[in-house]
Amino acid sequence: MSDEPEEQDVRLEARLTEQDTFEPSEEFVEQANVSDPSIYEEFEDEWPECWEQAADFLEWESEYDEVLLEDDAPTYQWFAGGELNASYNCLDRHVEDGRGDAVAIEWEGEPGESRTYTYSELLAEVEALAATLRELGVEEDDVVTMYMPMIVELPIAMLACARIGAPHSVVFAGFSAEALATRMNDADSEYLLTADGYYRRGDALDHLSKTDEGLADVDRETTTVVVDRLGDELEHELGEGQYDYDELVAEHEGESVEPVPRDAEDMLFLMYTSGTTGKPKGVKHTTAGYLAYAAWTSHAVLDLEPEDTYWCSADIGWITGHSYIVYGPLTLGTTTVMYEGTPDYPEKDRFWQIVEDYEVDVFYTAPTAVRAFMKWGTEYPEKRDLSSLRLLGTVGEPINPRAWKWYYKHIGGEECPIVDTWWQTETGGHMITTLPGVCDMKPGAAGPGLPGHDVRIVDAKGEEVESGRAGYLTVQKPWPGMLRTLYRNDERFLNEYWIEYSDPEADEWVYFPEDGAKVDDDGYITVLGRVDDVINVAGHRLGTMEVESATVGVEGVAEAAVVGGDHDLKGEAVYIYAIVEDGREPGEDLEAEIVEAIVDGIGPIAKPEQIIFTPELPKTRSGKIMRRLLEDIASGTDIGNTSTLRNPEVVEDIQEQVSDD
Ligand code: PRX
Repeated sequence: MSDEPEEQDVRLEARLTEQDTFEPSEEFVEQANVSDPSIYEEFEDEWPECWEQAADFLEWESEYDEVLLEDDAPTYQWFAGGELNASYNCLDRHVEDGRGDAVAIEWEGEPGESRTYTYSELLAEVEALAATLRELGVEEDDVVTMYMPMIVELPIAMLACARIGAPHSVVFAGFSAEALATRMNDADSEYLLTADGYYRRGDALDHLSKTDEGLADVDRETTTVVVDRLGDELEHELGEGQYDYDELVAEHEGESVEPVPRDAEDMLFLMYTSGTTGKPKGVKHTTAGYLAYAAWTSHAVLDLEPEDTYWCSADIGWITGHSYIVYGPLTLGTTTVMYEGTPDYPEKDRFWQIVEDYEVDVFYTAPTAVRAFMKWGTEYPEKRDLSSLRLLGTVGEPINPRAWKWYYKHIGGEECPIVDTWWQTETGGHMITTLPGVCDMKPGAAGPGLPGHDVRIVDAKGEEVESGRAGYLTVQKPWPGMLRTLYRNDERFLNEYWIEYSDPEADEWVYFPEDGAKVDDDGYITVLGRVDDVINVAGHRLGTMEVESATVGVEGVAEAAVVGGDHDLKGEAVYIYAIVEDGREPGEDLEAEIVEAIVDGIGPIAKPEQIIFTPELPKTRSGKIMRRLLEDIASGTDIGNTSTLRNPEVVEDIQEQVSDD
């Protein structure tokens, strides 16, 4: 946490919003997967055995002995003793059940072409790639990295890895070469799947050059498989240790590869995410608990049925895409839609064209996207037939009530419930949200903790706060989808997420997600944002330290402080306050260098909204940078008392610069 706890409490209080209540329609409730409110009591009374219901969504190679083992808390084990394979659960079982001809993936490229894969076809592709990976030398437990855009080969690669027991580590394609290298090095990963490029707003983007740049900084010798996405549009040459995906896979077409039985607690994948320090952390998810939880939440929260066509517009490079484009929907045998491009190409009705064409039943997106749709106006959704929609969802950041109501009215036609799902990379799946067939909705509040969860809002001492007051979000019972550790960094895992309150003898651990929140009298939780040095730009998590370290890497920058400021569309945006060394001129050239360093170090998502050059940063008398103040200045909110500053005179100067821009 960057500020004193008391200071944080005051800040969180200030973010409170008004609320109304909406009920799900009878028609929705009647068909909902979960519509009996007694599920909350049932899960409480029968905890942890209640989670057998999640395990029941899976096919097991051998049954588990225990639902939960707490011996090593807070490193919990779920479904211990069980064996299973995630790729078998997403593919073979449906084919064996006679659903081989059902559609698994509908893919649409940005230029408009489409590809449809049935479960049988997807299985065949996965087996051919699994055989290829084996031939290349991939063995069980080797970490395979994917640096791929939204093309079908990405989920195929994930499932092929899962099939042979090789954990995957997907790096978002929008991240920089440096970010790729850091993640491959941290995971000692020697295998990479990538693509020559992809389409963005009509342009063919070169991805392979960026990949090559990253590979140059990877410590180990690597084998790379390259998907030719762009064909003649962008010629590319393969270097040493690089192979063409189609050529390799063609040699293994029609081969069958038996799914490797994996222990319940074996790693399914790593996902790097931002934290308080400049170094991203590798969140480790396991096979059984994660998959069971992704499936159960897809069933209970997203209300998915095998017959549904479901579209989550996230990128698979983030946890949302892992859990709710790939693993959850495919485990349930649903049709999952994948789209390569942006929502405004060629027109601002692109998303609604996709909903209309594929008759999407359930649609899941980010509040940032909803705010953009709202800005573009109702004419775009009105052009399209959205009557197939039954349920809507949001993820990744708070949704303001105005955007919620717009989504409800103009996309859902006031008939679709909305699930505002709070969760994290670390939680594997949804944690706080309404069950759409059970709960009323309150725009702006995510909802109560899901059944089986003990979510409490506490103050700095760990005492529960009164309803309506801001505090820290805590999760006081383990759950199957939880992260098990940070890759090769158990210590950081323990220190960052877990607090052992009160009586250490009791061995009761509390999970601390680093979010502020408040709860109302009905138990509905409104999430108020991060309380650590992480900011949330358009639903994407960024560490301010990562941006700071890229900034101070630029010659001539002596010191920098990076904070998140409110932004109408993106929720939050990056603001940089930088001190320039003597002899270097602050100005456009230096700004451009800083932006370039950030894009090179992290990626375009971290581009700053504004860079403010200042001779000094506001500091407390003990020399700590007053980040809170810098956040308030960036957001244009009242900065209050500055008397505790050592150098209050700098504040006015900084304020002027921010408001001038
Ligand atoms: O601050 C919370 C915010 O996003 C953070 C997690 O980011 P990440 O690990 O990238 O996962 C995003 C996709 C699950 C949380 O700590 N957040 C996520 N969902 C919500 C949210 N904030 C408010 N409301 C939400 N529904």
